[in-house]
Amino acid sequence: DERVQAIASLSKALDTIPSEFIRSEHERPGTTTFHGPAPEIPVVDLADPDRDRVVQAVVKAGQEWGIFQLVNHGIPAEVIKEVQRVGREFFELPQEEKEAYAMKPESETLEGYGSKLQKDLEGKKAWVDFFFHNIWPQSRVNPSIWPKNPPSYRKANEDYTKCLLRVVDEVLASLSLGLGLEEQVLKEALGGEDLELLLKINYYPPCPRPDLALGVVAHTDMSAITMLVPNEVPGLQVFKDGHWSDAKYVPNAIVVHIGDQIEIVSNGKYKSVLHRTTVNKEKVRMSWPVFCSPPEEMVVGPLPQLVSNESTAKYKTKKYKDYRYCKINKLPQ
Ligand code: SIN
Ligand code: FE2
Repeated sequence: DERVQAIASLSKALDTIPSEFIRSEHERPGTTTFHGPAPEIPVVDLADPDRDRVVQAVVKAGQEWGIFQLVNHGIPAEVIKEVQRVGREFFELPQEEKEAYAMKPESETLEGYGSKLQKDLEGKKAWVDFFFHNIWPQSRVNPSIWPKNPPSYRKANEDYTKCLLRVVDEVLASLSLGLGLEEQVLKEALGGEDLELLLKINYYPPCPRPDLALGVVAHTDMSAITMLVPNEVPGLQVFKDGHWSDAKYVPNAIVVHIGDQIEIVSNGKYKSVLHRTTVNKEKVRMSWPVFCSPPEEMVVGPLPQLVSNESTAKYKTKKYKDYRYCKINKLPQ
């Protein structure tokens, strides 16, 4: 089970990449990235004192894009920088030290250090290694799986989680109001205080052929909502109006992705965003998405308040764990 980080060092010397990373024609970023004038992902200012305007901006972005960059969200820049520093330092540890945290294929939990071992539908591999661990609720947190090195890893992530929870609540409240519902209704439909937050750290090593490889293949997130901070190396691409366009790096912004569960609960008013990532020839790209999802036993479907004779249910109602099973195994929902 070779890590992409190791494959990348070898590839650099050879100035080429193994064939299983070379995407088929219709997926190659070199030929499928749009370079014409394209509208930017909307930026939402959470500190705007006019709350209606914030709600309208969140709702418009959720309907038209399924993604937005949230600025002035109230999380101190140092808190984000620290979570990024400790994550980067973990990935810079010697390989054998990281392997102590390797995800075990037979284990129940998704947590730990890993790379995608199986090839995707196209028979290709993703140019990325990652680390997953739960950060909320407390009852789902298993700090023994979290990196012990650097020593400040735990504190940095606990501080970030506390700050992020507030922002998640604010975004969900705005999306709820945008559905004509009271502000707590959407979060309640997604598990309320049992809403689960799972952190993923993506580490995309430099790649000699960024025109041929992808970091993460095109997908929508199965979560309700994903709150992501990237490092300063661009790579996120969004599919909009038939084109793949680069997301601009906005310093200190949180990139909010609408996931499948919010599309379902809103009966399609909000759309989950189709996105993918490219890699960089010289630089390491990293990102820290936090997937906010219902607990697995939670039954999720279009909110009854949004379903009527004129507006019938567009999605099935099922347990989140059943949705996840179908998504991971590429079965119809
Ligand atoms: C992902 O969608 O899984 C990663 C997004 C990113 O790295 O920006
Ligand atoms: Fe994603």
